[in-house]
Amino acid sequence: MRVVTSIPNLSTRLDSLPRPLGLVPTMGALHDGHLALVKRARRENQTVVATIFVNPTQFGSQEDLSKYPRDRERDLDMLREHGVDVVFAPGADEMYPPGFDTWVDVGVLGDRLEGVHRPGHFRGVATVVAKLFSLVRPDRAYFGQKDGQQLAVIRRLVRDLNLGLEIVAVPTVRDPDGLAKSSRNAYLTSSQRQAAPVVYRALCRAESLWSSGVRDAERLRAEMKAVLETEPLVESIDYTSVADVESMDELDQVQLSGKAMVLVAVRFGSTRLIDNVILE
Ligand code: PAF
Repeated sequence: MRVVTSIPNLSTRLDSLPRPLGLVPTMGALHDGHLALVKRARRENQTVVATIFVNPTQFGSQEDLSKYPRDRERDLDMLREHGVDVVFAPGADEMYPPGFDTWVDVGVLGDRLEGVHRPGHFRGVATVVAKLFSLVRPDRAYFGQKDGQQLAVIRRLVRDLNLGLEIVAVPTVRDPDGLAKSSRNAYLTSSQRQAAPVVYRALCRAESLWSSGVRDAERLRAEMKAVLETEPLVESIDYTSVADVESMDELDQVQLSGKAMVLVAVRFGSTRLIDNVILE
């Protein structure tokens, strides 16, 4: 496995590698969710490139970029073990040199839900992902379904800018109690960690109501909220949502299988957890 930190070295390294090439973009602090992306990419491609870059432009002014978990050596060991060919791990100056001022704005899709609570977040995500696509030129790129709105944003980016690669969504990896794997789980205290599966229980409640014939999205949103409110350690609920999987438009009714996602975002103390389930 080669670890490359500069853009010129990345280009030289990638030139000689066989296609198809699968890209797994990450911010490091790897867990089983990331490894599921790597494994899938490994199965489907001749070459696998992973990136590790804690992208400063997707963090808001209230969010502590410096506290984001980082463990480069452990991340590299995990990627090596899983057969990654090249890791691109640039510094912030390599990605955003002085004078950098071109941004990818994904419009209203990026202003909804997460965008309300993290203004500018998706502009940062879309910009860095567009740069990574342009630098690595993958045939496929792999993202977790756990960040459902991010996935919708990236699919839109690829469609609107005709980037011509395939976006592969990989199912959310969960702990046995249902909590979705996330680098942010590391911030939870042990009592918050015990309480956190309420997030998945809320989503499962909506899913089971939908499966039993409930089509009214307002009822699903209210039922998810009611489940979350049973947990005293949930400090606030940012949203419960029933949204179109592509446009992230809030829905009134959910008729068709696979077209809607139920989503929640909650805070346990200063830790914010998000999760979603597709209704199918
Ligand atoms: O999902 C993430 O880890 C990040 O948002 C991504 C896609 C690597 C962009 O920085």
